[in-house]
Amino acid sequence: MNNRNLSVDLAGLQLKNPLITASGTCGFAVELNEYIDIERLGAVTVKGITVDPRDGNPVPRIAETPSGILNSIGLENPGVDKFISEKLPELKDYELPIIVNISGHSLDDFACLASKLAPCDGIAALEVNVSCPNIEGGGMAFGTDSELIYKVGKIVRKEYDGKIIVKLSPNVTDIVEMACAAEESGADIISLINTLLGMKIDTRQRKPALANVFGGLSGPAVKPVALRMVYQVAQKVDIPIIGMGGIMTANDALEFLMAGATAVSVGTGTMVDPEILMEIIDGLEEYMRDNSIDSLDQIIGIAHSAIG
Ligand SMILES: Cc1cc2nc3c(=O)[nH]c(=O)nc-3n(C[C@H](O)[C@H](O)[C@H](O)COP(=O)(O)O)c2cc1C
Repeated sequence: MNNRNLSVDLAGLQLKNPLITASGTCGFAVELNEYIDIERLGAVTVKGITVDPRDGNPVPRIAETPSGILNSIGLENPGVDKFISEKLPELKDYELPIIVNISGHSLDDFACLASKLAPCDGIAALEVNVSCPNIEGGGMAFGTDSELIYKVGKIVRKEYDGKIIVKLSPNVTDIVEMACAAEESGADIISLINTLLGMKIDTRQRKPALANVFGGLSGPAVKPVALRMVYQVAQKVDIPIIGMGGIMTANDALEFLMAGATAVSVGTGTMVDPEILMEIIDGLEEYMRDNSIDSLDQIIGIAHSAIG
C-alpha cells in the first residue's frame, strides 16, 4: 500500500496534511502530546492570547447540549508576554507550524498583540479572532461589522509581516460580506467558523446553565451551518480557507475540503478524544488511496463544480 501525500499549500504555508487543532480546545497544544504524536498534525493553533492575563469567566462555563457544547470560557490565558517567554519556547521544540490566535477588545489591543508577536521566531501565522466584544465601540463583537473587520485586519497587517488568518464569527447575517472585508484588509487566509451564540437553561435549578448566561455552541450541531458558510465564502474570495465546526470524522473533513476549505480544524472533537485527529488523518489517506487521488487539490472545492 502506497502512503499518500496529504500535503496542502495554505497561502504559502506548507502543511504536511490539512489537519489543524482549533483554538481554545487544546491549551497550548503541548498538553496534547501526552495523548497523541502532535508532530503528525498539519499545524496547531494555540488558545486565544490577550494583551493582559485573564482568569476567564465564572463557572459553570461549559454545558453539554444535544450534539454539541456551549462554552463561555472568556479567554482564560496568561497574557502575551508570558506566552512569548514561557509557552512559545516550549512549543518551538516540536516540528510543526504554530498558529497563534489573538483576541482583543479594542483596535489598540490587536495592534499591541501583533507588534509584540512580530519579532518572535517560530510562528507560522497569527489567527485574528474577531468574535470578541469591541469594548470601546459599545460592546458589539468586531466580527459582526464588516468595517470593523477591515480595520482590525488592516491594523494587524500594519504591525505584522507574516501570514495573517482572520477568523470569522458565524453570528452574522451575511458571512460573505465579512469574508470580503477580511480579504480586502490584507488577510492571507480566512478561518471559519467560530462558535454560534446560544444558551441552555437548567430547569431543576430554574436558571441559565452557564454563569455567563450565553455561550458559544460548537460540535456536530453546528456543522451544517459551518459547511454552508465555507461553501458560500469559497465562491467569493480568492484567499484560502480553513474550515471548522463540528468535524469529528474523516468524512466530515472531506465535506469541508469539497466545500472549498484548503485545511480543516478540529476543536470540540479534540476535547472529546484527541485520537480523533489521528483517525481523521488516517481516514483521509485511506480515502485518497481508495479513490486513486494523488493530491488533495483534486478534491478541494470540487462540490462547486458539481452544481454547474
Ligand atoms: C472551549 C472552547 C474554547 C474556545 N476558545 C477559542 C479561542 O480562544 N479563540 C478562538 O478563536 N476560538 C475559540 N473557540 C472556537 C473554536 O476554535 C472553533 O472555532 C469552534 O469551536 C468550532 O469548531 P468545533 O465545532 O470543532 O469545536 C473555542 C471553542 C471551545 C469549544
